Amino acid sequence: MAIGPDPDTRAWLGLSGSVVAITGAGGGIGRALAADFSRAGAAAIALIDRDGDAARRTAALLEGPRVLPLTCDVADPAAVAAAAERIARELGAVDVLVNNAGLLRPGPLATLPPAEWNALLGANLTGYFLCAQAFGRTMLERRRGAIVHIASIAASHAQGFSGAYSVSKAGVVMLSRQLALEWGEAGIRSNVVSPGLVRTPMSEAFYRDPAIAGRRAAMVPLQRVAQPEDIAEVVLFLASPRSGYVTGQEILVDGGFGRTLMDLVPRPGFDRAEHTNR
Ligand SMILES: NC(=O)c1ccc[n+]([C@@H]2O[C@H](COP(=O)([O-])OP(=O)(O)OC[C@H]3O[C@@H](n4cnc5c(N)ncnc54)[C@H](O)[C@@H]3O)[C@@H](O)[C@H]2O)c1
Repeated sequence: MAIGPDPDTRAWLGLSGSVVAITGAGGGIGRALAADFSRAGAAAIALIDRDGDAARRTAALLEGPRVLPLTCDVADPAAVAAAAERIARELGAVDVLVNNAGLLRPGPLATLPPAEWNALLGANLTGYFLCAQAFGRTMLERRRGAIVHIASIAASHAQGFSGAYSVSKAGVVMLSRQLALEWGEAGIRSNVVSPGLVRTPMSEAFYRDPAIAGRRAAMVPLQRVAQPEDIAEVVLFLASPRSGYVTGQEILVDGGFGRTLMDLVPRPGFDRAEHTNR
């Protein structure tokens, strides 16, 4: 299905005519972001991914905006600089950057090889910095722009046996705050969206067993795992003039999952099972 502008539902965002760059645009959340910016009337969308075929598959879905799929490893400074230069030449100055490309790999800290630690931080944190710097240059010149970074609830809740994943996401939250501080006077906003449980290619293995998928959904107050579109909706709000006085913030898009700690405590007389059908 071709995804083009949908003025009835998206005009209020005021993103029509904008030039957008999305990293990790071949993945689950990246693809939903591209579709949602297309519906919002974006004039042009750069689709950055180290998997160029996946970026091209996202491009093929979009109808309306000019699209530029690019094979680029965001951890490589030269590749990011070349991508930013090509995007500026072919699509024009970028109004919105969404830093979304990320990796998740299992690994206990006790035995994690330093190379593995560095590789994950390279993509998930340094990559976000490199893209902010490369696309921020013209934002600073034009004195306008919005950056939205995808972190995770793992930024504030340590996710065990996942190598540098939580550390990288906590770093993204602070990177965003520092950008908000340094670039606010130039009219550039920087904010974070932190997803909870989302079903995408990254997490697909966790949902193959229906029993485990059901248990994951049951842990969330809203009783479902997010679709990538749930994340995209909030990113578009933070990228849009509708949130023009919001910067340095993090919005958790987790169905309430991050607020469930007290629900884990056995408390006779107060337990959920005694008061509900669950
Ligand atoms: N899926 C979840 O449950 C979940 C939860 C919280 C946060 N997140 C975050 O959301 C973001 C998107 O993840 P997703 O779930 O869509 O995963 P995904 O695996 O579907 O997509 C990630 C994309 O990033 C690309 N990528 C990875 N490293 C790259 C690099 N160095 N340079 C360029 N591209 C690179 C991959 O090729 C892939 O297309 C990630 O930052 C992830 O950490 C996901």
